[in-house]
Amino acid sequence: MSANHQLLAAGLDLGYGDRRIVSALDLTVPAGKLTVIVGANACGKSTLLRGLARLLSPTRGAVYLDGKPIHQMPTREVATVLGVLPQSPIAPEAITVTDLVGRGRYPHQGWFRRWTPEDDAAVARALAATDTLDLAERPVDELSGGQRQRVWIAMALAQETDLLLLDEPTTFLDINHQVEVLDLLTDLVRTGGRTMVVVLHDLNLACRYADHIVAMKAGTIVAEGRPVAVMTEKVVHDVFGMASRIMVDPVSDTPMIVPIGRHHTEGAMARA
Ligand SMILES: Nc1ncnc2c1ncn2[C@@H]1O[C@H](COP(=O)(O)OP(=O)(O)OP(=O)(O)O)[C@@H](O)[C@H]1O
Ligand SMILES: [Mg+2]
Repeated sequence: MSANHQLLAAGLDLGYGDRRIVSALDLTVPAGKLTVIVGANACGKSTLLRGLARLLSPTRGAVYLDGKPIHQMPTREVATVLGVLPQSPIAPEAITVTDLVGRGRYPHQGWFRRWTPEDDAAVARALAATDTLDLAERPVDELSGGQRQRVWIAMALAQETDLLLLDEPTTFLDINHQVEVLDLLTDLVRTGGRTMVVVLHDLNLACRYADHIVAMKAGTIVAEGRPVAVMTEKVVHDVFGMASRIMVDPVSDTPMIVPIGRHHTEGAMARA
């Protein structure tokens, strides 16, 4: 079990140049839980994740890691506790899968601590967990989109940090691999005691896997809490501007969002 580190944002403003994207945002990431951030394109999910991961400096407010302002902490100190997978990571040219995943171990190396068998073991564990062992020697730029995505997840896992922030880790994955990745993250939370923050677009999977769900709109949080409390037709409409019906997922008992759209009306099946 790893120690639970505390991550929170207080009065956080984030933006690019003069454009403010995230405004006065307060968020306490529940330790030892899986938090899922949902929201429409361009609402600021990735920007928030970058702010939480210290990759983007706040213009107001702060992010605190264990009570310390994260933007004033040394990179290595943060990197041994907090791992991040950005939305569109770029691999160095011609790098192999093993070498890329091995880069996840860099924060664990220091002036006196070089590569060890423990680093090899961590890489092997990450490859096995993401079903990418058979890709180990392949160049990353020759992989399919879904294979590449799993390799990036492996790199993030190889860091073996207590806190892990993943921006759309299931993009490009087929439905089986989406579920496998979310099952794996859940294992890391439930049995590893880790803390995850994950951006997802699939609301049904978000509701199924999230302990805590955060619904964002225009750079603010409009609702957060347990999926069953947060994911109402009203919130879906507010956040996505879309009418829907909420059913109960027959497998997990969590909210299941059925979009309506312009070409379908309710009850079409019953009338047919
Ligand atoms: N590097 C950047 N420079 C300037 N503007 C940016 C930059 N990155 C993002 N933005 C802008 O900030 C806003 C929020 O972007 P962000 O990537 O946080 O959205 P998102 O919620 O992650 O969307 P998506 O679901 O499409 O990934 C958008 O209007 C985007 O154009
Ligand atoms: Mg994004």
